[in-house]
Amino acid sequence: MHTHPDRIAILDFGSQYSQLIARRVREANVYCELFPWDAPPEKVQALQPTGIILSGGPNSVYDPGAPSLGDYVLQVGAPVLGICYGMQLLARACGGVVAPSSHREYGQTSIEIQPSRLWAANVPQALSVWMSHGDRVDQVPAGFHTIAHSANTPIAGMADEARGIYAIQFHPEVNHTQHGRDIIDQFLHQVCGCGSSWTSAGIIDESIARIRAQVGTRPVICGLSGGVDSSVTAALVHRAVGDQLTCVFVDTGLLRKGEGEQVIETFQREQGIRLVAVDASEDFLEVLQGVTDPEEKRKRIGEKFVRIFEAQIAGLGIQPAVTNSKTVLLAQGTLYPDVIESRGPERQAAAKIKTHHNVGGLPKDMQFELLEPLRFLFKDEARAVGSALGLPDSIVWRQPFPGPGLAVRILGDVTWERLERLRAADAVLQEELRRADLMRATSQSFAVLLPVRAVGVMGDGRTYSEVIAIRAVTTDDFMTADWARIPYEVLARISSRIVNEVHGINRVTYDITTKPPATIEWE
Ligand code: XMP
Repeated sequence: MHTHPDRIAILDFGSQYSQLIARRVREANVYCELFPWDAPPEKVQALQPTGIILSGGPNSVYDPGAPSLGDYVLQVGAPVLGICYGMQLLARACGGVVAPSSHREYGQTSIEIQPSRLWAANVPQALSVWMSHGDRVDQVPAGFHTIAHSANTPIAGMADEARGIYAIQFHPEVNHTQHGRDIIDQFLHQVCGCGSSWTSAGIIDESIARIRAQVGTRPVICGLSGGVDSSVTAALVHRAVGDQLTCVFVDTGLLRKGEGEQVIETFQREQGIRLVAVDASEDFLEVLQGVTDPEEKRKRIGEKFVRIFEAQIAGLGIQPAVTNSKTVLLAQGTLYPDVIESRGPERQAAAKIKTHHNVGGLPKDMQFELLEPLRFLFKDEARAVGSALGLPDSIVWRQPFPGPGLAVRILGDVTWERLERLRAADAVLQEELRRADLMRATSQSFAVLLPVRAVGVMGDGRTYSEVIAIRAVTTDDFMTADWARIPYEVLARISSRIVNEVHGINRVTYDITTKPPATIEWE
C-alpha cells in the first residue's frame, strides 16, 4: 500500500514540538507520519515503519494515567529514537530507572557526548542543546550505555546500539539545539538506512499515482480560491487527470481587491485549466445578513460554498445518475497540520478556538467524495510542489487568506458598503507594504474593519466614521506570532492614505498584540 521507500512513524506524547519533529524529518527528505501515542497499534504498524521516533511530552512517566509506550514499539524491530519523555519511556520499558531530577533543566544546556552511532561525524564533543525536563534517567537498562551527559544529568543520552534503540534527553528538533538537524539526519539515514526520496519530484509522482487511483474516470471539481493550498491542489489534480478536472472559482464578494481577476488569469489563461467562475456575492451577503457571530459566519459560508458547487454540477453536463451517489469528487487543499490528531497542548487549544471551514464546517449531507492530495504535506512542501508544477511566485508565495475571507475581518455586520470600505483600505495597506518591500518580511498583513465609530474632524466638519485596524505579523508556523515592527514612516503613509482615500474611515490603529494571547485574525 505504501509507495514511499522509507517511512518514519512519530508517536506524539503531547510535546509542543511534535509537529516540528515531523517537519524536520520531511526536511531530511524522508516521509513520516505523526500518530497520537495511543493510536491503535495496527494503524502504526500498517505504515511498516523504517524507524520510530517518540516525542517529548509534559508528563512524568509515574503520573497516574500518563501516556505509555505500546509494547509493539519495541517488537516491530525498527530502530527507535526517544526524545525527552520518549527517552524516559524507553528507559522504563527496557528496565532502567527513571527518577525526578533534583535540578529541573529548562532551556539551553551544555552536554558532552560519548561515542555512538547516533552522532554524525560533524557533531562536536561538547555542544549546546535545548532541554526541558523534570524527570531524568538514573540508571540505563541492561544492554544500554550512556552516550551523553550534562552537569545536572549524568545520563542525557543512552543507546542499545545492537537493537538500534537511541534516546536523548534534549530536543534535536528545535533550532536552539546545535547540530540538531545533523542528529536527526544521522538517525534517519545512517541508523535507519533511509534514502532521500521525499523531494518535490517524488511527491508529485506519488501524488499523481494516488490521485489517478482514487479518481479513475470520474469527474473532479475543485473549489479554487487562489490561495496556495487550493492552487497547488488544482495544478496537481490537473497534472494527474487533465480535463476530468473542472475548477470552480466562487467570487464570494469576500475577496480582496483584484483577486478574482488574477485567479482567472492564472488558471484559465496560463495553466489552461477548465475554470467556471461564479459570481455569488449576493448569495453570500444574503446568508451573512445580520450575522455577527464569527463561528456562525464561518458555518454559513462553508455551507454556502458546498451548495454552490453542487449547483454547478448541473451546468457541467455530468449525468444525474452519477450525482446521486458520492461519485463526483471534490478536491480540497487540506494540509497535514489540519489533519494531524496531535496531542500537543496548543494543537488541542487551536482545534477548539476555531472551526476552519475546510475541515469542520462541511455539511453532513454533502454529495461529494473528498479528494485531498495535500493531506500529507506541510505548507513548505506544498509550496515547493506548486513551484515545481510551474505556478507563479505571486500564487506560491501568497500570504494565507482565511477561507471565509473578509467576512471574518469585518467585525459586526457584513454589508456591501463595509466590504468595499475594507477592500479599499486593505488595498492601500498591501500597496504600501509592497512599495516598502515588506511583503516577505511580514508573514501575514491585512486590514480589519472594527464595529465601532469614532469622532474625527475633516476640513471644518466633524466626522463620525468607522475605524480600521492594521494587523501585520511575523511567524513561522501561525501557531504563535509576533506583531511586525513596521517602520513608523510606512505606518504613517498607510494611515494617511486610508483616512484620505477611503470614504467612511476616519481613524487607523495598529494592532501590537502577540499570539497568544490574541489570535492573528480578529474573529
Ligand atoms: P488565527 O486567527 O487562528 O489564524 O491565529 C491562524 C491562521 O489561520 C488562518 N485562518 C483561517 N483559515 N479558514 C481558513 O482557511 C478559517 O476560518 C481561518 N481562520 C483563521 C489565519 O488567516 C491565519 O493565517
